[in-house]
Amino acid sequence: MQDRKTFYITTPIYYPSGKLHIGNTYTTVAADTMARFKKMTGYDTYFLTGTDEHGQKIERRAQEAGKDPQTFVDEIVADTKKLWQLMDVEYDVFMRTTDPDHVKAIQRIFRRMLDQDDIYRSVYEGQYCASCEAFWTATQLVDGHGCPDCGKPTELVQEESYFFRMSKYQDWLIQYIEDHPEFIQPPSRANEMLQNFLRPGLQDLCVSRTTFSWGVPVDFDPKHVVYVWIDALFNYVTALGYMGDDDTLLQKYWPAQVQLVGKDIVRFHTIYWPIMLHSLGLPLPRQVFAHGWLLFGNDKMSKSKGNVVYPPPIVARYGADALRYYLMREMPFGADGNYTNRALLNRINSDLANDLGNLVRRTTAMLDKYFGGVIPAPNAYEAVDQALIDKTEALPPAFEEEMDALQFSQALQEVWRVVSECNRYIDLTQPWVLGRDESGTPRLQTVLYVLAEAIRVIGVLIYPVMPTTSRRIHQQLGIEDEALTTWDSINTFGALPSGGKVQQGEALFPRIDIEKDLAELEQGDQPEPEPEPTVPETPAKPEIAFDDFEKLSMKVARVISCEAMAGSDKLLQFRLSLGQEERTVLSGIAKYHDPATLVGRKVILLCNLAPRKIRGVVSEGMLLSAENPDGSLYLLFADDQVQEGAEIG
Ligand code: MSP
Repeated sequence: MQDRKTFYITTPIYYPSGKLHIGNTYTTVAADTMARFKKMTGYDTYFLTGTDEHGQKIERRAQEAGKDPQTFVDEIVADTKKLWQLMDVEYDVFMRTTDPDHVKAIQRIFRRMLDQDDIYRSVYEGQYCASCEAFWTATQLVDGHGCPDCGKPTELVQEESYFFRMSKYQDWLIQYIEDHPEFIQPPSRANEMLQNFLRPGLQDLCVSRTTFSWGVPVDFDPKHVVYVWIDALFNYVTALGYMGDDDTLLQKYWPAQVQLVGKDIVRFHTIYWPIMLHSLGLPLPRQVFAHGWLLFGNDKMSKSKGNVVYPPPIVARYGADALRYYLMREMPFGADGNYTNRALLNRINSDLANDLGNLVRRTTAMLDKYFGGVIPAPNAYEAVDQALIDKTEALPPAFEEEMDALQFSQALQEVWRVVSECNRYIDLTQPWVLGRDESGTPRLQTVLYVLAEAIRVIGVLIYPVMPTTSRRIHQQLGIEDEALTTWDSINTFGALPSGGKVQQGEALFPRIDIEKDLAELEQGDQPEPEPEPTVPETPAKPEIAFDDFEKLSMKVARVISCEAMAGSDKLLQFRLSLGQEERTVLSGIAKYHDPATLVGRKVILLCNLAPRKIRGVVSEGMLLSAENPDGSLYLLFADDQVQEGAEIG
């Protein structure tokens, strides 16, 4: 069914019962990292995430909030999409189970299962956890009444229901898992499923409910709604058109290469899901990978436990890349790990500011100082150069191997080994000594070339985890040709041409005063209050002298990137290029401009306005805009002919 070189990856679809937190972000960033990596290495990639919007829990939450369920979920979905935008998550499809096409497809699936006698009608009596939307047997309950997953009390439910004949497929699934060791990863999870559920014997699964109505109605018996896990699991294929009008995507991408799930939902994805796919004659995903939990003080972080960390305040301070790096680096994928602000800040300072940031800064500064910013051609390589070149050349295959095994932390460690080697190479070759007189110039050319090329390679490799930093590194190296930022371009050392001009920018990751930031973060992540937009009354201003005007330094700047600022509906955060220099500027025009349309435009920056810290970000200047009488604000643009950095006056 599948073309060569396609790669379909999915996250679980999240319950929109409240704001998503850093635990859900963990899964989604992992999927995004993998999708970016596969795209970069030439795969036709499709990345699904979305929301699981039906069920009793959502219905109750909506009631508590005094909203109808659809309005309730719509609001959270909008927020979820903003979070993914903030985290630089580039999904191909955002699947919602309230989507009418999905609903229709689920009804068809349900009927097909009934028609082929995999589903039958009977009476159900059992323990149900509304929080996890899961049924449990008496022996599985904790102390006779607690849900084994979340610990909350279960409810005794008795109702007429439809059942799926799981028992019929149990032996087939045991055999399948034994024959396909790669199917459930890590392997310990496969053993757990076999021992705890499959070998003791599967019970038929209750697949409809009558006690609430917020779900997909069974069309031939409308007092029933389809069990939310059936509704949810099938999103992975209805998103591709299964049981819909056009299944081109299904033909192209199914089966998925990898489905990421948290360890709490392995059972659903490795028992019910494969059995139901098989019953419908669909192939199974190649792999279901269960990652660990992000813990907070050794407890699972979860909305229902209330011990939650949210990404926006962290991103507002340190940027999405820093958080993405931390999530992917801190714990091996598959294991649990504790989230702490201190560990995050330590990683930023040591790995990002010290190791990587300093390397880039030192190298571009030396290129500036010794060669006017121009990348020199290398001369004959010596042993010390060749050692670093060999390590840099060995890096992409090692990185790929770790990434293909979803070992993000290991993959990053491989990169950081070379980052450290580069820093050691600077100490060994002592470019500042070579730069003392002309006799050192030929060696200095080689040393700085080797460093610049190694940094280019590092810049390419970190792209899946830190897309913005990758771009910034390449910009600082003066790379304009996109061919020099591709996976293929790092196969052999030396693709970076000499003659390019580096553009020293701001530090990639400014050093953090850890104790000060920790205190601020632990005060409840309170961002600084957002400045109220001023609606000027346009009083007549006094006449000024030319000297007054001369005090203003205004320049034309090109918008490198622009995005809505986390947690603010007024501010846009710009990264601007003034030619020789880049700046970050905040502007209160979010209501009037779509950030995506501003990238590449030339705007006018008041450069010598005192910097101002807003919500943890230092705004270095003010963008000029014009204000309509109704208070709406529109940026002023400069003609495309005008160069970046051109003075206005
Ligand atoms: N809606 C179901 C999934 C249906 S998929 C067909 C669901 N939603 S959830 O919102 O509760 O959880 C979604 C995912 O987030 C799960 O994989 C879960 O493991 C993950 N996480 C929730 N809290 C987490 C942490 N604290 N750490 C890591 N992952 C976490 O289950």
